[in-house]
Order: sequence, then structure tokens, then C-alpha cells
Amino acid sequence: MSNIKDTGDLKIKLKNGQVIKFRTVRNSDTELFLKYFDDLSARSRYFFHPGRFDLEHAESITKNANSGDTYRLVAVQGEKEYGRIVGYAWIQGLEKKDYIPMLGIGIIDEYHNVGLGKAMMKLMIERAKQLNLDRLKLGVFDDNPRAIHIYESVGFRIDPTIPPRKENEHTEIYMIIEIKDCKERRERIMVDYNQLSEITKAEATSNLTQVHQVPAGKLSSRYAI
Ligand SMILES: CC(C)(COP(=O)(O)OP(=O)(O)OC[C@H]1O[C@@H](n2cnc3c(N)ncnc32)[C@H](O)[C@@H]1OP(=O)(O)O)[C@@H](O)C(=O)NCCC(=O)NCCS
Repeated sequence: MSNIKDTGDLKIKLKNGQVIKFRTVRNSDTELFLKYFDDLSARSRYFFHPGRFDLEHAESITKNANSGDTYRLVAVQGEKEYGRIVGYAWIQGLEKKDYIPMLGIGIIDEYHNVGLGKAMMKLMIERAKQLNLDRLKLGVFDDNPRAIHIYESVGFRIDPTIPPRKENEHTEIYMIIEIKDCKERRERIMVDYNQLSEITKAEATSNLTQVHQVPAGKLSSRYAI
């Protein structure tokens, strides 16, 4: 269970000059979440899978705001105590055994490309350290280059041990970050990678090439987590 209390004292100035506060989710945030869902475009909703944006989902977020196995953080704009939610990120799976906790993030369209996503990702990695996590995982569609760019820029790498998942015509790839520097685990990942079938390797590689336009010769180094 998360014991971290974010009270809203954490603030950053975005590239557009606006000041944003970070705080943990509260039980009373349901209405704010409904407005936040409204502020996500159809494209953002598609990237922000799984895609339920209704009262039931808002309540499921706020009911166990920061208890159980999920840590939830919101980026809030506005002077009022509760403000407007412009970004939401979470780490799920804190209490599961033999599971790498999953991170998710979604910023409303009006606030894209002004530095909020990257700042929030850095903060979530800090929180993962405080939660004593070894690693964090995330899934991202391969046609979401902005998300992949920020994930890589804060240290996530494509995990070749998890094959890409096909969903209709979409492909979800998995990325991972080592929170603690663990040489032994790094070596195990490389062994796992070497044991992958050629087909899985080729799939992972073709996804990398497609997403990042990286020359084939440079691919192997990107697997070194
Ligand atoms: C993906 C998302 C979290 C990124 O957050 P953001 O606040 O828009 O991102 P930032 O402003 O912090 O950073 C954007 C970076 O992406 C880069 N970028 C923008 N468009 C890009 C593109 N098409 N390809 C590659 N990089 C791109 C920017 O140059 C910037 O990089 P820099 O900081 O190195 O200059 C946010 O856009 C979002 O929530 N989108 C909708 C939902 C979603 O995709 N969630 C993720 C699901 S896995």
C-alpha cells in the first residue's frame, strides 16, 4: 500500500508559463475526473487504453484513491483547492506477487507538448523509488511516438522478453525501467532475450525499426536495460 502523501505543495512551471500542482487522488475527485475524461480527445482516449471514460470508471479511481495496490497522482491547474485535473498517472500492482507494477499516464490535449508528461513521468519514477519498487513496466501502442519519446527520455527501454501484443490492427509494445540498479537482473534479461525465438526477436526488432527509425546495426544496444 502506498504511504506517500502528496499534498499539492509540489509545483512546476510548464513551457507555456502555467503553474501546475501535483497531488494524490482524493475520494472527492469523481466530478473532476469526469471533466478530465471530457477533455481527452478521441485520439488521446484511443492511446489511453483501456478505454472506459464514464462515471463507473471515475468512481473506481476515486473510491480507493490511494489505497490498495495502486498509487495515483494528478496534475492540477488552478488556484482553487481542488482545481482542474489536467494529467493523471498511476502505478498499479503494488501488492501483487511476481508482478512488475504497471505505470499509466494521460494528459489532456490542451496541455500536450508543454513538458507536463515528462515532468510527471520523472515524478512517478521518484515515487516508484519511494515505494521501494525494483522495476516499472508500461504498455504503449507503437503508433504513439510522442509517448515513446518521453518514456525513452526518462529511461524506459523496450522489453524484448515480452512479445508485442496485437489488438485488431494495433500493436502494443512493452517498456521497462530498472528502478534499482541490479546487475544480476540486467544479466538475466539479456539471457532471456538471447533465448527468445527468432520470430519473436524479429517482431520486436521490426517494431523498434518502425517506431524509432533506428538503423538496424544500432538496435541491439537499445535492448540493454
Ligand atoms: C503521451 C503524453 C503522456 C506525453 O505528454 P506531453 O505532456 O504531451 O509530453 P511533453 O510535453 O512532456 O514532451 C513531449 C516530447 O515529445 C516530443 N514529441 C512531440 N511529438 C512527437 C512525435 N510525433 N514524435 C516524437 N516525439 C514527439 C516533443 O518534442 C517533446 O520532446 P522533448 O521534451 O525532448 O522536446 C501525452 O501527450 C498524452 O497523455 N497523450 C494522450 C494519452 C497517451 O498517449 N497516453 C500514453 C499512453 S501509453
